Amino acid sequence: MKNNDKKPTSIVVFGATGDLAKRKLFPAFFNLFLEGWLPEEFEILSLGRTEQTQEEFRNYILENIRTFSRIQKFSQEQWNNFSEKIKFIRFDITQEESFIRLKNELDTIDVNLGIRSNRLFYLSVAPSFIETVSNSLKNAGLTENVDQDRMIIEKPFGYDKASAVALNKLLSQTFKEEQIYRIDHYLGKENVQNILAFRFGNTIFEPLWNNNYIDSVQITVAETVGVEDRGGYYDGSGALRDMIQNHLMQILCMIAMEAPAAFESSEIRDRKVDVLKSVRRINLEDIGHYTVRAQYTEGEIDGKKKAGYLEEPGVNPNSNTETYVAMKFYIDNERWRGVPFYMRTGKRMQEKKSSIVISFKDVPCTTFRDDLNMLFPNKLVINIQPEMDVRLSFMTKKPGLDMKLKPAEMVFDYFECSSETPEAYETLLLDALDGDSTLFMRSDQVEEAWDVISNIQTAWESGNSPKMDTYAAGSAGPAAADDLLKR
Ligand code: BG6
Repeated sequence: MKNNDKKPTSIVVFGATGDLAKRKLFPAFFNLFLEGWLPEEFEILSLGRTEQTQEEFRNYILENIRTFSRIQKFSQEQWNNFSEKIKFIRFDITQEESFIRLKNELDTIDVNLGIRSNRLFYLSVAPSFIETVSNSLKNAGLTENVDQDRMIIEKPFGYDKASAVALNKLLSQTFKEEQIYRIDHYLGKENVQNILAFRFGNTIFEPLWNNNYIDSVQITVAETVGVEDRGGYYDGSGALRDMIQNHLMQILCMIAMEAPAAFESSEIRDRKVDVLKSVRRINLEDIGHYTVRAQYTEGEIDGKKKAGYLEEPGVNPNSNTETYVAMKFYIDNERWRGVPFYMRTGKRMQEKKSSIVISFKDVPCTTFRDDLNMLFPNKLVINIQPEMDVRLSFMTKKPGLDMKLKPAEMVFDYFECSSETPEAYETLLLDALDGDSTLFMRSDQVEEAWDVISNIQTAWESGNSPKMDTYAAGSAGPAAADDLLKR
């Protein structure tokens, strides 16, 4: 829906001077604006703690847009038109009066427009402030219009199942579930969204999408970055909470879910919850068998020396927090019985790569019995980033007089179709503005995802197996992860 059909909207960014706002949110709003997706009438109330003038804040946003925005070609006039919609407000989250002032600002906007605008609150604040913000928004009467007032909330969404349940309960005292948009930016990535189109928009793949044909599924998210300046946060989190519980679980749901009856938010989210409920919980005593955890030690990436995790700023030098996880599990339903799913994620790996590999079973017949060692099972690879493509490998006859086989690939490459693809945050912000929660996580999804990893958390925290492995920065991860795959 392009801008002329949209209701005026007041966007309120809590944490407007923070890292996320600078790298992702403002560039995303600007790109949506340039491409005509924002409403004709909108305002971005940007809340931050540091005293600054409107001009200083707008210049700061412009600088960040020049560094982080997907679109770099824009005119002075376009920037001027966008920047006049940004208003910086010095704000103290801990003071109720700040929220009363915010309400006055929002009411004034509506009076000037002559219409009650939609309101979108973006909570890009530390988890410890969520309760305060949520309560103060409620006390200031800022959340009462269920159809028009929405809130986007960033991860981490809880620390474990119990804290996620408590957080959901707290938020439900202020907002109705349909007003809450729990963001997982992996769901906004093009090739993650494409999974549904690929699976349910074709006749030929879905009949093969089960344990009759699929041998295993691997989901990998490898990063070259370390913990950067987030050591403090990361050390209390680790890869299991930071990546597996949310991003990788969400990808898993897209791969494993049943067909939704309609492309509708509740249908799709119901089917995802079904998957999470069917994931077999690993018994406490088996955690060592099914999981690997590791920390990076010093190493090199692209010829540059990188410190080990324990030497990173903000990290406890005796930390027992993992920067790498590999795990194997099963989904106990008709479709997936017996198919192992492998998940891997790590920081400071040799390359940045997020991908899904669906390995099909060996060819059942022996027609090519003399060539068996050249017969590779079919594989479907969905590359999420940095490449964005779908690759199907199959066997073919090697051109020539004799009958020899060789593997070939069919490729759909996003970048060949379009040089510009929207950033995940653009997609998700637009959906939230439009009131479409399909790509956001519902409370039960989040709780169920925590439940899946709950025993792993318990076993790891009790110091029991598996032991903490190590891998050098810039390597492919610990050897134990390869063993897990082989097993
Ligand atoms: C975030 C994690 O959710 O996702 C980070 O907190 C991680 O630790 C990031 O680096 C990865 O996102 P992307 O889009 O760069 O793959």
